[in-house]
Amino acid sequence: NYPKLYHDYKEHFLIGAAVNPKTIISQHELITRHFNSVTAENEMKFLSFHPSENQYTFDQADQLISFAKQNGLNVRGHTLVWHNQTPEWLFHSQDGSLVDRETLLARMKDHIDTIITRYKGDIYAWDVVNEVISDKVGEFLRPSKWLDIAGEEFIEKAFLYAHEADPEALLFYNDYNESVPEKREKIYKLVKSLKSKDVPIHGIGLQAHWNLETPSLDHIRKAIERYASLNVQLHITELDVSVFNYEDKRTDLKYPTEEMMIRQAERYEQIFYLFKDYSEYITSVTFWGAADDYTWLDNFPVRNRKNWPFLFDIDHNPKQSYWRVLDIA
Ligand code: XIL
Repeated sequence: NYPKLYHDYKEHFLIGAAVNPKTIISQHELITRHFNSVTAENEMKFLSFHPSENQYTFDQADQLISFAKQNGLNVRGHTLVWHNQTPEWLFHSQDGSLVDRETLLARMKDHIDTIITRYKGDIYAWDVVNEVISDKVGEFLRPSKWLDIAGEEFIEKAFLYAHEADPEALLFYNDYNESVPEKREKIYKLVKSLKSKDVPIHGIGLQAHWNLETPSLDHIRKAIERYASLNVQLHITELDVSVFNYEDKRTDLKYPTEEMMIRQAERYEQIFYLFKDYSEYITSVTFWGAADDYTWLDNFPVRNRKNWPFLFDIDHNPKQSYWRVLDIA
């Protein structure tokens, strides 16, 4: 019976974990003990909710919501508008051609209305728009069907529709590589321009898919400062610390090395120290999972390569990383 993680961070921010229908069973004890926020890993994405035009499927999301309610956990909503895990029907008409701008925006509005209204009061913040900024130098927005068909405006429309559906909802823009200076500036520019147009946006989500070396602490700090200067809340939405750096393509490790675990613990300590420093802005910190027995990194960016990115090991026991994070709370 180790100290509860969220408890020690109560004065600073919520501590969350991404969950799915399997992990709310297999990691039930761990999740309910150490976390006070959850995010659906896949179950609230467009494709999950709305696989065909006249069919909404709420079962799995509803189950996660009731799991959260039974255990007194807060829920983050993820995500309404994205280029991945989005059904093809959305962009096409019956004859297979692309729909026009009005049709796509009307479909988007219907989706956002339906979802936000259904979960009004159950979800404390929504990732309204996910990952629309390009990683390429010199390119602002990521090419997508959303952009092709509806133009840049689909972004502000998404926030406007969400706000209309629930004026109380906290609305976020969420992205990865958020601490890379070039991309950071593009995210800053996007959110600044939305704010200058009075588009209802209340926060920026920093996904924080990091590793033992990258991004540097200095880059993380600068990103937090830059985003905070826009006067929005910050959520760390998908934190994990991969034990592999980007160039490392090894696939044969059965266990993490001792050195990896030591470096990860130091890294986590530095990261949480920084988060605490900025807890005036950072109101929620969510890991993209809970314990090392299950992580999406086992299949990303390399298929079938075990990773150990969290504070708890494959048996749900605390790692050195946990103790270091707890120590500095
Ligand atoms: C990932 C899930 O973890 C996987 O199970 C799924 O196959 C793909 O999506 N950025 C996001 C998340 O915003 O929704 C992604 O989640 C990880 C990257």
